Formats: sequence, C-alpha cells, structure tokens
Amino acid sequence: MKKIGFEDFDTMHEEEFEILAKVVAKIKNHLEYNEEIEKFLKHLNVHFFQEIELMEKYNYPLTPNHNQEHIKIIGEIERMLDKSPDELLEFIKNRLIPLMEEHIQTFDKIMADYLKEAIKDEEFYQEK
Ligand SMILES: [Fe+2]
Ligand SMILES: [Fe+2]
Repeated sequence: MKKIGFEDFDTMHEEEFEILAKVVAKIKNHLEYNEEIEKFLKHLNVHFFQEIELMEKYNYPLTPNHNQEHIKIIGEIERMLDKSPDELLEFIKNRLIPLMEEHIQTFDKIMADYLKEAIKDEEFYQEK
C-alpha cells in the first residue's frame, strides 16, 4: 500500500489492511470471522469520520464528494455481510481491497495534500 504522506491516515490505512488480511486468513481457514469484520467496520467508521472532521475543519471543497465515496464503500461492504464466506472472500480480494487502494491513491491523496498545506498555513499565521 502506498502512503499518502499524512501520518495519522497512513497508520489507519495500514491497520485496516492488516485487519482485512486477518479476515481473509480466517475465512480461508474456515474459522469464525465475525469479530474481525466487526473490528474492521468499527475501524473504518472511525477512520472515515476523522477524515471528514478534518476536511470540514479546514473547509476542504471536495468534502461532500469524498463523503459520498465513503458512504458508497460502507454500503458495498454492508451488502456483503450476509453472503457466504466464499462470496465475502471473493469480494474482499477482488473488489474491496482494490477499491480501498484506489480511494487512498485518489480521494485520500488529494485530501492529504490539501490538509497539509492548510495546516502549514494555519501554523504560519499562528506564529505571527
Ligand atoms: Fe482514508
Ligand atoms: Fe477517505
């Protein structure tokens, strides 16, 4: 996974892919994976909430679009929750992981670049 250069979010992204790897391993080994999925969804909600909060704080103009994209991702995951383990596994590997990677490289990267500048400006004016 490529980093976007915004530490808090890079860490969250990394943690999420780790949890997903555990879900995948559990499904493959025919183990109970509900707890891990719960953990993943909780993590994702906190992560998305924190991104939106920061975007709003710094008046990021693309906040609504970014939020829509988050809602879309959560919606896709929720629709898969009552599917069979095999279908869920297929979804995670071929849809969710590529989708998240793409989101990080596009939406999150642009957001991070904007936020870094906004925070720098804020610090600059606070020093004066
Ligand atoms: Fe993100
Ligand atoms: Fe995002």
